[in-house]
Amino acid sequence: MRKRLPKILVTGGAGFIGSAFVKEWRWFYFPKGSYSCRRGGLNLPYGLVIIDKLTYAGDLKRLEEVKGKFKFYRTDICDKTGIQSIFQKEKPDIVVHFAAESHVDRSINDASPFIETNIRGTQVLLDACRKYNIKKFIFISTDEVYGEIPNGKFSESSSIKSNSPYAASKAAADLLVQAYVRTYNFPAIIIRPCNNYGPWQFPEKLIPLAIKSVLKGGKVPVYARGQNVREWLYVNDCAKGIMQIMRKGKIGALYNLGSGIESKNIDTVKLILRNLGVSQNRYKFVKDRPGHDIRYSLNSSKIKKELGWKPKVDFKEGIKLTIDWYLENKTWLMEGF
Ligand SMILES: NC(=O)c1ccc[n+]([C@@H]2O[C@H](COP(=O)([O-])OP(=O)(O)OC[C@H]3O[C@@H](n4cnc5c(N)ncnc54)[C@H](O)[C@@H]3O)[C@@H](O)[C@H]2O)c1
Repeated sequence: MRKRLPKILVTGGAGFIGSAFVKEWRWFYFPKGSYSCRRGGLNLPYGLVIIDKLTYAGDLKRLEEVKGKFKFYRTDICDKTGIQSIFQKEKPDIVVHFAAESHVDRSINDASPFIETNIRGTQVLLDACRKYNIKKFIFISTDEVYGEIPNGKFSESSSIKSNSPYAASKAAADLLVQAYVRTYNFPAIIIRPCNNYGPWQFPEKLIPLAIKSVLKGGKVPVYARGQNVREWLYVNDCAKGIMQIMRKGKIGALYNLGSGIESKNIDTVKLILRNLGVSQNRYKFVKDRPGHDIRYSLNSSKIKKELGWKPKVDFKEGIKLTIDWYLENKTWLMEGF
């Protein structure tokens, strides 16, 4: 007899990475080329539940291609009663928690929604998971919890020393998850991905913002002299890594999820300008972001060794795929904000 598939509940599934994860999940149980795969992948609306508040960053258009394959609740993760009644009704086995306020600049302007959603919302979920005996809780943290590292790489045992209000709110949630693991023997796994990019990213983040600025006929704004280094992971590779950890990761463990591809912001912008076929000078330096971290870099050997994951898309290819997608989806990019 076929094994019952676990029921998965995804928070923030209408966001950039959450939606990529949901689309990836569809192929998960069926190898490419199989009968079910040819029919469009897993088709069990009751097997996948998505909770999303649909803030400015959430958009159900990201999930068009998997319409009908999931159950959707427009709910705030901070709404304890609402969340508990969904858990009671749906009885998920696994929770994958992406929902968050995710933009550093917004957190500098106003930290309140970050504290509310990223910390309190996570606590509401943790308590619902305990109450309804969830088997696995996957928390999507971030490399930014470690703070900056001018040289070397952060491993999972590096200490947390976040610098922006966004990173601090994610670090608080990350520590809260760790506290639940230790105190209640709670079955959680924490994942700390590096910067993601790819189709459907909201155009406030560097790469889509750069593409949008050029398409609007302007110059790309670059903080300070563009010397800050980020590690870049194509979003589908990230989604596959999360899937792998969800399936085979050790309960209670932490996993860095990085590509090893580092680029200075100015070089990233110039690569985009080259791909768009416009002048290499279509950028302008702007006043630096307060507290701007100089460099992030992850040692991701643990997930590679333990689970055999490695990213497939290199940076040049990923940037090309991303630009091609935005050119084909200009309306979405332009209406972004
Ligand atoms: N994008 C990156 O480069 C990156 C890197 C590392 C980690 N992360 C983490 O990955 C996760 C997903 O990031 P993303 O880039 O997809 O973010 P995103 O901003 O694109 O999406 C966040 C989603 O969460 C939803 N949401 C926000 N507040 C909510 C609330 N109170 N209740 C329910 N839903 C709510 C939004 O509507 C949106 O759909 C976040 O936890 C983020 O911290 C992102």
